Amino acid sequence: MPQDAAALRETLSIAPVIPVIVHDDVSTARDLAEALVAGGLRVLEVTLRTPHALQVIEEMAKVSGAVVGSGTVRSPLQMGHSVEAGCQFMVSPGASPRLLEAANGVRIPLLPGIGTPTEAMTASEHGYSFLKFFPAEALGGVKVLKAYASPLADITFCPTGGIDMQKAKDYLALPNVICVGGSWVMPADAVAGKDWKRIEALAREAARLKG
Ligand code: 3PG
Repeated sequence: MPQDAAALRETLSIAPVIPVIVHDDVSTARDLAEALVAGGLRVLEVTLRTPHALQVIEEMAKVSGAVVGSGTVRSPLQMGHSVEAGCQFMVSPGASPRLLEAANGVRIPLLPGIGTPTEAMTASEHGYSFLKFFPAEALGGVKVLKAYASPLADITFCPTGGIDMQKAKDYLALPNVICVGGSWVMPADAVAGKDWKRIEALAREAARLKG
């Protein structure tokens, strides 16, 4: 089916921020997910950009309360792998017609990425009403999504790319933003140093933002 909007709305409403995770260490995947979930960020996007990303997903999916999805999904093959790994949703940086059509045959919803009105309209014509706005800051950020609100009134966005705590607040104040994605809640040095308490604290701060 085209994008299951109800299912995606439910998932994207759980928390105001979705950590965008680039992590290849299977042995610490669970600790990282536990810290994020303990802080209140239950929806986790694990990008398929590292060799062990699917195993990382499997580990994170074992954490009670975690809703784990795959990110950087660019092919039908990756969609199949995402389902097998136990993902509950998928995210893509783009919205190629081939990808949108392939997602019709997959039982978990896809959040495709767009950067322009034409791309948003193409995704909308394929039945998609929830879209990622990527790369949000580089494309003009809050100003652009404000400008989309009236002409693309039936589309709801999850901006990602270059967002931090303060910027997240500004995006979440927009009526056409349901949540934001970002990696600022898990700084590389905290992950490398296994500083799960710091990550939990950052997640807690982010979870308090209003969606
Ligand atoms: C990404 O795809 O890498 C995300 O948009 C995260 O971006 P960030 O690291 O700038 O938050």
